Amino acid sequence: MIYRPIAIDEEIKFSKKKFIVSKTDLKGKITFVNKNFCDISGYSEDELVGAPHNIVRHPDMPRAVFYLVWKALLSGRAISGVVKNLSKSGKYYWVIADLEPKFDRDGNIVSLTAFRRAAPQNVIDTTEELYATMLNIEKKHGMEKSIAYLEGFLEEHDMTYDAFIAELIKPKGIIATLLAAFKRMFG
Ligand SMILES: Cc1cc2nc3c(=O)[nH]c(=O)nc-3n(C[C@H](O)[C@H](O)[C@H](O)COP(=O)(O)O)c2cc1C
Repeated sequence: MIYRPIAIDEEIKFSKKKFIVSKTDLKGKITFVNKNFCDISGYSEDELVGAPHNIVRHPDMPRAVFYLVWKALLSGRAISGVVKNLSKSGKYYWVIADLEPKFDRDGNIVSLTAFRRAAPQNVIDTTEELYATMLNIEKKHGMEKSIAYLEGFLEEHDMTYDAFIAELIKPKGIIATLLAAFKRMFG
């Protein structure tokens, strides 16, 4: 049985230099976490490894986001997104996540990796408003309509999802350098 904390409206802030890593199998079962994941989520490595990744799913997250994430990964594409996660204490933490599939020599997807970093306030503000609207639409009209809303939103900004996210979350300066080194280490 997985312990499901009740969400409380308190934020966990963490250093921009603390990257959170996890790896999963093709069903989203966690196979690896780094120490920052444990420290920030409040779960031990034993609690996380073997658990489904939705262990940190926050009820404020629209389903459409995960639908798009899974669609990209299982078709072999990397994708980035902004995610509100739920810690064991019920507090939340916002991250920018870069997710990517790993392939074997024959080109089959063998595992999925996520690198996350703290989301700056301007990213949280933009995303929070968008997700609240999407969640509302999902509750009333289902996920398809929320995806349609996101598509309309992107059209209005004349951007693809990837371009919109890239513009929103571009890592800058030293963080970009550190993140690249980190990805090489854990990739
Ligand atoms: C590598 C990887 C990392 C993930 N990281 C997160 C995460 O940090 N938070 C989250 O809510 N879901 C994450 N997910 C998505 C979950 O697997 C799941 O789809 C999501 O929490 C929605 O849960 P549900 O499908 O039970 O509704 C991740 C998936 C993968 C493949």
